[in-house]
Amino acid sequence: MFKLSLLLASLPFLTTALPQNGWPGSWGEQKPYFFKGFDLSSLKIEEDGGAVYKDAQCGNITRPVEDILGDGGMNTVRLRLWVNPKAPYDDGYYESYGLNYTVPLAKRFYDKGYKIYLDYHFSDYWADPSKQSVPVEWPTTLQPLETTLRNYVSSSMLAFTHAGVDLSIVSLGNEIRHGMLWPLGEVDVDIEPAQARVANFTNFATLWAAARNGVRDAVARGVHQPLTMIHIDDGNNGSPHVFGFSFYPFYGTAATLANLNQTLTTLAHQYKKPLHVVETDWPDQCSGPTAPELSEPSIPVSVAGQTVWVHDVIDVVKNVPYGLGQGINYWEPAWLNNTGLGSACQDAILFSADWSHYPNVTGYSRASVNMFRGV
Ligand SMILES: *[C@@H]1O[C@H](CO)[C@@H](O)[C@H](O)[C@H]1NC(C)=O
Ligand SMILES: *[C@@H]1O[C@H](CO)[C@@H](O)[C@H](O)[C@H]1NC(C)=O
Ligand SMILES: *[C@@H]1O[C@H](CO)[C@@H](O)[C@H](O)[C@H]1NC(C)=O
Ligand SMILES: *[C@@H]1O[C@H](CO)[C@@H](O)[C@H](O)[C@H]1NC(C)=O
Ligand SMILES: *[C@@H]1O[C@H](CO)[C@@H](O)[C@H](O)[C@H]1NC(C)=O
Ligand SMILES: *[C@@H]1O[C@H](CO)[C@@H](O)[C@H](O)[C@H]1NC(C)=O
Repeated sequence: MFKLSLLLASLPFLTTALPQNGWPGSWGEQKPYFFKGFDLSSLKIEEDGGAVYKDAQCGNITRPVEDILGDGGMNTVRLRLWVNPKAPYDDGYYESYGLNYTVPLAKRFYDKGYKIYLDYHFSDYWADPSKQSVPVEWPTTLQPLETTLRNYVSSSMLAFTHAGVDLSIVSLGNEIRHGMLWPLGEVDVDIEPAQARVANFTNFATLWAAARNGVRDAVARGVHQPLTMIHIDDGNNGSPHVFGFSFYPFYGTAATLANLNQTLTTLAHQYKKPLHVVETDWPDQCSGPTAPELSEPSIPVSVAGQTVWVHDVIDVVKNVPYGLGQGINYWEPAWLNNTGLGSACQDAILFSADWSHYPNVTGYSRASVNMFRGV
């Protein structure tokens, strides 16, 4: 909590920049809406490459992934957005997740009744605590960058509205514990003394506020008001800002449910803002010499364990004081050729991939696709 307080103290704009009310069913009045989402960002790439998904609970008929997951209780789809993705990154493999890709995908899910949660990376490529590269075509001095960012947020949100999609949540930056839009917006919460830390955070605060103003501009131009989220990794160690946390069991044994509970409970008391776990996964295969130690070893590494973990996380989130725990998202359950999902486990997705007709692939749903049913 120590680091968290420092971080928040360094971001004075937080208390004023974020909406104080207007949350769907804001706490104290009625039961808040609970977001149960899956990140399906890569789905269209899989489909375009010929992937086919079968509903194993329904006689193996071919069905769209969102229909299978929707029957399993999903009410929200999370999608990442990159600014101008293109080669040379990864030999052009990840030439996706730009507006042209994400808007039609969002439209498809929105038209089926799902809430859309847009995850801005503010980069041409993956943004996370180890990399937050400013888009190649963007300015590299503060004031022009502020303007570009503000206009980008506003115009990209308008693009969704023009396509007929209302966004329910937008997170401004992805896992921004170390800031965003490096090098200008890079921060270090450990800097002492406080004065030096505040100086270190000034650019980041300015840039985040510009992104937040972009949301305001968009709303002024007719975009439906979304929830505006700050997304931090490491939901277990108390360094997040306020709203959305990644919380994975395979990157460190400190990611326990008790630590998540402690972090979220403390934040709820201190800031009275809605809290979401926005990325999580659990493996159904994780073995061999390089297999990581999982943070909750009593939960089985199995399809059943995937549901147990998610139910336990939901239990923590839903019991956060004042009803402030308001959502969970499971990350990339249908990514058939990236089954480890960035971890050193073999498989953490919710479909079993059959490559016997390579290069074609078929994904058979596992029982864990129903992890949100009845919760
Ligand atoms: C993953 O699968 C998709 C769909 O089959 C394909 O388009 C893509 O190139 C594959 N990526 C890798 C790294 O194999
Ligand atoms: C569905 O396909 C899987 C994988 O091929 C198979 O194990 C299972 O028996 C099939 N189920 C039905 C009802 O055909
Ligand atoms: C997006 O699509 C539009 C219309 O097809 C095209 O003009 C534009 O170049 C595309 N942008 C990117 C980044 O691919
Ligand atoms: C903040 O401090 C970190 C660590 O020293 C440094 O890498 C970063 O460049 C600093 N950020 C700014 C904007 O000066
Ligand atoms: C979270 O912590 C609180 C206070 O310590 C405790 O009362 C509650 O039972 C915990 N919730 C869960 C789901 O473990
Ligand atoms: C892959 O799917 C395509 C389209 O359905 C089909 O024409 C082709 O024969 C399949 N390839 C294999 C190896 O099964």
